[in-house]
Amino acid sequence: MSTGEGVRETWSTRIGFILAAVGSAVGLGNIWRFPFQVGQEGGAAFMVMYLAFVVLIGFPAMMVEFVVGRKTGLNTVGAIREFAGGAWKYLGGLFVFIGFVILSYYSVVGGWVLRYIGGSVTGGYTGTAAEGAPPVAAQYFGTISSGLDTLLFHGLFMVIVIAIVAMGVQRGIELGVKVMVPAIIAIFAALAVYAFTLGGATEAYSYYLSPDLGYLLDNWQSIVPAAAGQGFFTLSLGMGVMITYASYLSEDENLGVDGATIVGFNTGISILTGLIVFPILFTAGVDPETSGAGAIFISVAQALGSIPFGEIVGVLFFATVAIAALSSAISLIEVVVSYVIDEFGLDRVPATAGIGTLIFLLGAPVTYDTVMVDLYDIFAAQVLLVLGGILLVILVAWLHADEAIDELKKGVGNLAWIGDLWLWMVRVPVLVVLLVSLYLGVDGFVEFLQGDFAEFLSSL
Ligand code: PHE
Repeated sequence: MSTGEGVRETWSTRIGFILAAVGSAVGLGNIWRFPFQVGQEGGAAFMVMYLAFVVLIGFPAMMVEFVVGRKTGLNTVGAIREFAGGAWKYLGGLFVFIGFVILSYYSVVGGWVLRYIGGSVTGGYTGTAAEGAPPVAAQYFGTISSGLDTLLFHGLFMVIVIAIVAMGVQRGIELGVKVMVPAIIAIFAALAVYAFTLGGATEAYSYYLSPDLGYLLDNWQSIVPAAAGQGFFTLSLGMGVMITYASYLSEDENLGVDGATIVGFNTGISILTGLIVFPILFTAGVDPETSGAGAIFISVAQALGSIPFGEIVGVLFFATVAIAALSSAISLIEVVVSYVIDEFGLDRVPATAGIGTLIFLLGAPVTYDTVMVDLYDIFAAQVLLVLGGILLVILVAWLHADEAIDELKKGVGNLAWIGDLWLWMVRVPVLVVLLVSLYLGVDGFVEFLQGDFAEFLSSL
């Protein structure tokens, strides 16, 4: 078992690291969050912006985190303190805080997913509603998405996360993701093939894949921050996960190739999710725009009730989502756990249990009403992660560029020239786009506070 004083663990294999990072990236962000962002922001128009973000902004930003993690070999807080010192050390603290916030509501949604596995087996969300009543799936979501049971399932999700992370980097995280990631890919590929055979597939593909550029131009002010938030969220950027994971790496790794592999896999899974979700929705005649946080839970569940083999597909789908959510949750808590182990010399088991309990408590209010999920989620993705990304880019690309480039060049062989290209990408275009996104993201969050959230408060 690893302790604060013991030798720091590393990944046992290169593929272990890649799978762990893919496991972190692929999660509720791809499967729960992505479809409703696509739905809310105009279908394929959002896709264009999202893909541009992931490749042109997300990938270089991931390298920024890798460089800091591998160079220092430390947890997020320690890494930033060693890299920069002075007041910058608070940036590490901000990352730990963001990890707390995200996992606290992530786990609530994870609890919904666990419930839906059961609901798929018992047929809880399918069936015909009484005249004039909302569809059964919507009623089901209404009953499971808030209240005491929701709190219990949030707790159950956290217990599973704690159990895996308490076992350590190699035995817990690495072994876990070696099973989980291939399972996600195999099941989702099979489900996409199945979705292709459905009647609504053609219509779905055009909604999802042929962008209306006019729509994009008219609505860029909401699409840009949504794409930025989704890009950072889905790649696990902006809060030190990739710093922490890269800190368990050795120097002969080619960070660029690893990063491209991770981004490629993650984007592939998101696209695959759309290829499953949208044909199911169009086949069942469900509108992808009316969904929000309930998206896959209401509309996909409802659709599953009316398509062939819906029940089996439902079990497979939600079980896969649960696995994906767990492998991401592991990375979120690991940021905080590694900090506490490294800095305070705590043992892994009590550290994980204690932190998990605090996160559970922070998430408890989220089980009160689904609007709380939006509150935490918009704040985390569109404000906190983007802010974290901006600060890190300034620190690494402007203030410590020489060290960063040297680190990036290790292990890349004759690809060393990309170091300079990367630096200038990050210094100007990436930073400018992130600043604009943060501005628009804060604006959107304030709008949410004054709109939906104010309405919720006044209804209390
Ligand atoms: N990337 C994860 C997902 O898509 C969520 C996550 C965000 C994990 C930030 C770690 C850090 O579900």
